[in-house]
Amino acid sequence: MARRRSTIEWMDADGKPGRVLQASLTAATAAPSVHNTQPWLFDLRHDSIDVSLDPDRQLTVIDLSGREQMISIGAAMFNLRVSVLAHGWLPVQSLWPAFGQYGPLGRIAPSRPVAVPRTARTLAWAIPRRHSNRGAFKDIDLPDDVLTDLVQAARAEGAVLRFAEPEARNGLFSLIHAAEQRWNDDPAYREELSRWTQPVPGRRDGIPPEALGVRSAGDAVPLRDLGLATPNRPRRVARFEPSPAVAVLYTGDTPRDWLRAGQALQRVLLTATVRGVAATLMTQPLEIPRLRELISDPRTGRAAQAIIRFGYPRLPGAPSPRRPWQEVLRVSTEHGGVPPADPATGAPSPLAQSPPAPLTPTPGA
Ligand SMILES: Cc1cc2nc3c(=O)[nH]c(=O)nc-3n(C[C@H](O)[C@H](O)[C@H](O)COP(=O)(O)O)c2cc1C
Repeated sequence: MARRRSTIEWMDADGKPGRVLQASLTAATAAPSVHNTQPWLFDLRHDSIDVSLDPDRQLTVIDLSGREQMISIGAAMFNLRVSVLAHGWLPVQSLWPAFGQYGPLGRIAPSRPVAVPRTARTLAWAIPRRHSNRGAFKDIDLPDDVLTDLVQAARAEGAVLRFAEPEARNGLFSLIHAAEQRWNDDPAYREELSRWTQPVPGRRDGIPPEALGVRSAGDAVPLRDLGLATPNRPRRVARFEPSPAVAVLYTGDTPRDWLRAGQALQRVLLTATVRGVAATLMTQPLEIPRLRELISDPRTGRAAQAIIRFGYPRLPGAPSPRRPWQEVLRVSTEHGGVPPADPATGAPSPLAQSPPAPLTPTPGA
């Protein structure tokens, strides 16, 4: 009975994605990704979904190792898990990160019906409401219970989130400034950024002009200058909060850890959204190995995966566009599915014909 309900909600009688799967794929694609590259691909199976990275969407200047791409995929997997659970199905997750670019990174399957936990419900509520916020925040400290919630959100996904004391924060900001300078001087960086920030009508990826954020009136908060490649567009200048709350997210440093870091990052960001707290990522120094080493924690051997600024927003963050799930779902008829149609034109998805890569779990993974 449960199996039957699962099958129908996952894939309908005609072999098309069912209600739960459609909602969960929409949730997955709402995840944050570096430069909004949305580097994910999903392969529909009869009773599960495989998640792979799209090698064409890797940022080869700032992310040659693919670490930030894997973090983005991890965030999408977290949203998938939360959405499946919020629909009353226990998600079972398997990770095969050893396949890297050559096959699926993981699989999520709805295993059996469960009562929806309150946390899953609230995190699912936050998925479409979370947006990066690159504006000024209010000059109000985050209360201890909010800080605790954020730290626990990271811990629940096997990561460590550590807030920087003022002195450490100043050191961190110097490294971010140095990285920002180094990147801004690099023509290849500017070219790559330009590709993901040029406004093109109808574009459903990249960072749109309205999400580029304001310019800081001083040097107080070294956000990434996403307007670098579009200097002729006027941007508002604002005074940023004098004492920003900044934290570093740490995990181990294997590809599997990067996926876990993405899951932890997304749990932290959604928890912040639930608490009315906005966030901005500032990852420039983590894209330069020498600087990343300085931010990583030699005592525990943990590697820095993300730097996040938190605060109460003065204005809401602007949403960035997403490609619809029909565009990132590959359906193999081998698993009983039929290709989804493009929502706008009704034409079959261009990805529909590609069969999923073979899946053999790595021994011990
Ligand atoms: C690994 C990673 C690194 C990121 N680094 C930065 C950054 O340095 N600066 C920034 O403003 N946003 C950064 N972002 C946020 C993305 O630009 C953002 O998620 C994307 O544009 C989609 O917008 P949204 O978060 O509002 O949905 C990063 C996101 C990820 C996943």
